[in-house]
Amino acid sequence: MAAIERKADANPTKAFFVRIITKDISLEDCILDLIDNSVDGAWRCEGSRPIGLQDGTDLSKYSIMIEATPDKFSIIDNCGGMSLDDAVEHAFSFGREATEDHDDYSIGVYGIGMKRAVFKLGGNIRVRSTYDDKGTRSAFAVPINVSKWLSNDKPPWDFDIEEDELLPNNGVEIVVQELTPGAAGAFESPAFLQGLRRTIARDYALHLNRGLRISLNGSEISGWKIELRQSEDFQPMRLEYKDKADNEEVSIEIIGGMAAPPPESNDPEEEADNEKQPHGWYVVCNGRIVLAGDKTAISGWGTDDWPNWHPQYAGFIGIILFTAANAAALPLTTTKRSVDITSDIYRRARPKMREVSTKWIAYTNQRKQAADEAKAKEALAVPVSIYSVAKRATVALPALVSRPAGERLANVHYSVPVSRLKKLAKELGGINMSNREVGLKSFNYTYDDLVGGE
Ligand SMILES: Nc1ncnc2c1ncn2[C@@H]1O[C@H](COP(=O)(O)OP(=O)(O)OP(=O)(O)O)[C@@H](O)[C@H]1O
Ligand SMILES: [Mg+2]
Repeated sequence: MAAIERKADANPTKAFFVRIITKDISLEDCILDLIDNSVDGAWRCEGSRPIGLQDGTDLSKYSIMIEATPDKFSIIDNCGGMSLDDAVEHAFSFGREATEDHDDYSIGVYGIGMKRAVFKLGGNIRVRSTYDDKGTRSAFAVPINVSKWLSNDKPPWDFDIEEDELLPNNGVEIVVQELTPGAAGAFESPAFLQGLRRTIARDYALHLNRGLRISLNGSEISGWKIELRQSEDFQPMRLEYKDKADNEEVSIEIIGGMAAPPPESNDPEEEADNEKQPHGWYVVCNGRIVLAGDKTAISGWGTDDWPNWHPQYAGFIGIILFTAANAAALPLTTTKRSVDITSDIYRRARPKMREVSTKWIAYTNQRKQAADEAKAKEALAVPVSIYSVAKRATVALPALVSRPAGERLANVHYSVPVSRLKKLAKELGGINMSNREVGLKSFNYTYDDLVGGE
């Protein structure tokens, strides 16, 4: 059949486009997107290395200041800024081109975050950048009057760039005025601001712990301290391995153990509190916590043969870190606030997460029959930062002796050659077992054999 010369127009309108990209993202997530960009900038200034836990990079010279009031929003960083070429070629385009370089261990993947955030925030936007242009500090600004920009759909879609005064430091400043009703309302609400502060403290904990400064309305935010308890009896696991997603290498690190002694009781009040507790699984992608204190099926609870999370398991923290030069290889959801559970890389990690979780579950069960002994041992375990946890293939938890409440205890002391102890430890389950564990296990073994089970 002969084609008719004229074509059916399929070009999007700007208004449709803006509505679609801002519809399904929360205001809080938009602000986190802007913080992500600043953090990526700081990391670029530090040479874009893998963001493992061992890395001692000091981020204390970088700061991100956010002001959120009912009539104005601003974020200003000193994280190096974007160059004029960045702005002309990709920073303001909707979506990254496939050919763009991604090998920078960033959290930015799609090329949409900044645009989506500013459109969600308001109608009068000014993005300013000051950067190092081959040894000379240069500056430019991109002003966006949203209603004016929306009024003309004709391609090419672009934004004007104008000369600008230098910012005090190399970095980016974004100021948004004529806030949308949603943004103005939220910034008036102490509850929203408190929630935002809490989310920042949690999700950027690893950066804040390295010294990065983030402030909201003039007050600095301190990052969550993530610590695990360690003693002869309690030793967190710390495992590292590599995997591949679409031929891109991804490094994985898993750490897990006791962060705090389990609760005394399972009463409903404690249970309610428990939801707010930082316990559970953390998933970190290129340094950013995308899932924190998870107690749901996403980190495995209530799936396969794991039980559902129960307040009895409080005290456990597990952290899994995925690090990749190309952020597209990370098991991220598109909003970057959770994990893509269908990702092969994440699926392959789950059994390893399961192992440490189930050991903790077993410990908290055993503990009910030997509460005094457990508490005494837990009291000896001291908090250590997750950065200093030693490598260990699996978590070590004390072997408890079940006994009726009030039964008297006998202590056994004896000396044996170290070489024999090690050989026995190996047979009993692991060369890294503590002497005490070997003693207890061999006692229980002999007891079961000669006296029999009770
Ligand atoms: N604060 C900043 N400092 C330096 N460069 C920035 C900053 N904010 C944005 N940029 C530049 O603008 C680009 C576009 O940012 P945008 O958030 O829209 O997309 P992205 O970060 O590449 O991907 P994603 O959509 O996954 O966030 C960034 O890749 C970066 O080059
Ligand atoms: Mg981004």
